This record gives sequence, structure tokens and C-alpha cells, in this order.
Amino acid sequence: MRESCESVLTVRNLKTYFRTPEGIVKAVDDISFELNKGEVLALVGESGCGKSVTASSILGLVKAPPAMVEGSIRFRGRELVGMAAKDYRTIRGKQISMIFQEPMSAFDPLYTVGYQLLEVARAHMPWSDGEAKEKIIDSLRSIHIPEPEKRYGEYPHEMSGGMLQRIMIAMALITSPEIIIADEPTTALDVTIQAQVLNIMQDLQRDYSGSIIFITHDLGTVAEIAHRVHVMYAGKIVEKGPVVELFEEPLHPYTLGLLTSRVKREYKGQDLPFIEGYVPRPNELPDGCRFHPRCPRAMERCRREQPPDFEPASMPGRTVACWLWEGGDAE
Ligand SMILES: Nc1ncnc2c1ncn2[C@@H]1O[C@H](COP(=O)(O)OP(=O)(O)OP(=O)(O)O)[C@@H](O)[C@H]1O
Ligand SMILES: [Mg+2]
Repeated sequence: MRESCESVLTVRNLKTYFRTPEGIVKAVDDISFELNKGEVLALVGESGCGKSVTASSILGLVKAPPAMVEGSIRFRGRELVGMAAKDYRTIRGKQISMIFQEPMSAFDPLYTVGYQLLEVARAHMPWSDGEAKEKIIDSLRSIHIPEPEKRYGEYPHEMSGGMLQRIMIAMALITSPEIIIADEPTTALDVTIQAQVLNIMQDLQRDYSGSIIFITHDLGTVAEIAHRVHVMYAGKIVEKGPVVELFEEPLHPYTLGLLTSRVKREYKGQDLPFIEGYVPRPNELPDGCRFHPRCPRAMERCRREQPPDFEPASMPGRTVACWLWEGGDAE
């Protein structure tokens, strides 16, 4: 565990549901967690399990169709759920910044990247344009962008995806935010560029005193970066723990499945999912534990009752939502 455990973001019983013609989509269904100061918290899970909706809920960006966001998200003593749009704008992009999967979507093709970075600084920081430009160029340099003065005057299409992704990281840092939410920041990039961007994220984690929520579907990428990992499945957090312990001894059968799929892929060089079946559609969730139809250890009770979070006594800082852990230890 990190020494400092001051919480900067406290999420309690967050539910984000969408009303759609196919029924209610429970994209995020009653999750609670804490983000501590200075930590990198990884949110991991297969496609569709609710990672991005969790991020949009924190950022106040949940869009129509009619959505319901319930529960509590507290940031610096303020409640974000239900906050007025104008108040949110003073927080989003300044105190809480984001890095998205698709760098192209974050930039306007009609303006130079320097101008777009300057606009972020103008919106949130009390600097003159000259000062802002200096700070932006410093920040580009800090993330190893070669010839930052030249890059400042270039347009997004003149840059590679990897370069733009790094510039988006610089953009997220301009305002020295307390929280950065990085939603699959490497997924859209090819493998060598992924490694470069991950290195930058690692440097960032060392030098930056704020907190990071790092979202990914690949458990492998979190090993080097995260302090703690929360594993999501079908709108729920099924396991929480410090990264090393979670990797060494996964408690939830789903986490074990994710880790095993990864190891198999590495050895065989092919994408062989260890966990059979698919994440259920969030408008057709099974009764009981949502993982039970795919779980090799499912018991009768798992089909009927949703497991609460258990905290095994011998493993402080860890929780697991699985009936196997009811007595404090897996049977
Ligand atoms: N605006 C929306 N309206 C209806 N359903 C939505 C909406 N946004 C997301 N969903 C559904 O909510 C579920 C969770 O979506 P989310 O984007 O959070 O998944 P994810 O974990 O980020 O997946 P990925 O790894 O593919 O990015 C999905 O089933 C998705 O189809
Ligand atoms: Mg997503």
C-alpha cells in the first residue's frame, strides 16, 4: 500500500443506467471505490464491462439516451453527481483531465496543436500567452517530443498517432490536474508505439504528484504502472487489490481467467480466451453473480444470489465479490 492514503475521489454506490428501446442498460451497477492521492489506480475488464461509462460518470459526460446517474462521487468535498454543467466546466479539463483512446478525436484538424494547447491554458490558467507558450513547450519537452518549438506550429495531420497521443498527455498535464483519467491510452496504437506511450505514462507516474485512473482491458499493461487494480465485470467491481498481490494470487475466478488468458497468449502467440463465453449484455444480466454462466467454479448459490464484497482477513486491502470467499477463505 502507498504510505499516503488520503482519498482525492470517493465513489459510493454509483449506478449509471441507460434507458434504451431494448430495455434498461445497467452499464455501471453499484460500484464503490476510492482514489488515493498520488496513486495510479487501474480499472480493468473486458470490452463492455463499464469502464468508459465509469470514466464519463466521473467527468459528468454521460450522454443521452436518457441516462440515470445515481450514488455519490465526491471530489475535494464537492458532490459531482448532479452538479450543474457550469460548475463541472471549472473542474473538468482543469482539476480532472482526461486522455482518450483516439488522439485524433481530441484535436481539431483546423488548428495547430500549439494553438489547441494554448486554448486549454487560456481557459483554465492565469498565464499570459507568452508564459503559456513557454510552459507548453516545456511540457512537450518533458514527454520527449523532439523539436517541440517546431511541433507547436504543426497541425494534427502532420503527426503520427503515437506523437499525437503523447501531445494529448501533455495537454492533460497543462493545468496540473489532481486527477488524470486515461481511458485505454495505448489501445489504438501499434505495438512499438504502445510501448513508448506506456513508458511516458510510467515517467508521468513517477514525476507527477496527482492521481491517475488508468483504464484498460489488458491486465498486462497495468503491472508496471498501477499501484492498485480494480477488476470490473458486467458493471460491477469484482475484485480490488494492490497490483503485486493481485497478480500473484488472484482471488476472483474472473481475475484468474483474465491473467491466464494473457499468459496463454504470450506462450502460444495467439488470442485464445481462457474464459469461455461472453460478457452478458447489460440489458440481459443473469441473476445471482453475473459471472456465474462462465465461471468454472459456480455453485448453486451463485445462480441465485449476488455476492457482496468479502474482505479476506489475511489479505488487508483486498476485496472480492465471490461466494467462494464467504468464510474469509476460498473453499
Ligand atoms: N449511451 C449509451 N447508451 C446505451 N448503452 C450504452 C451507452 N454507453 C455505453 N453503453 C453500454 O454500456 C456498457 C458499458 O460500456 P463501456 O463503454 O463503459 O464499456 P468498456 O468497459 O469501456 O468497454 P471497451 O473496453 O470496449 O471500451 C456497454 O454494454 C455499452 O454498450
Ligand atoms: Mg471503453
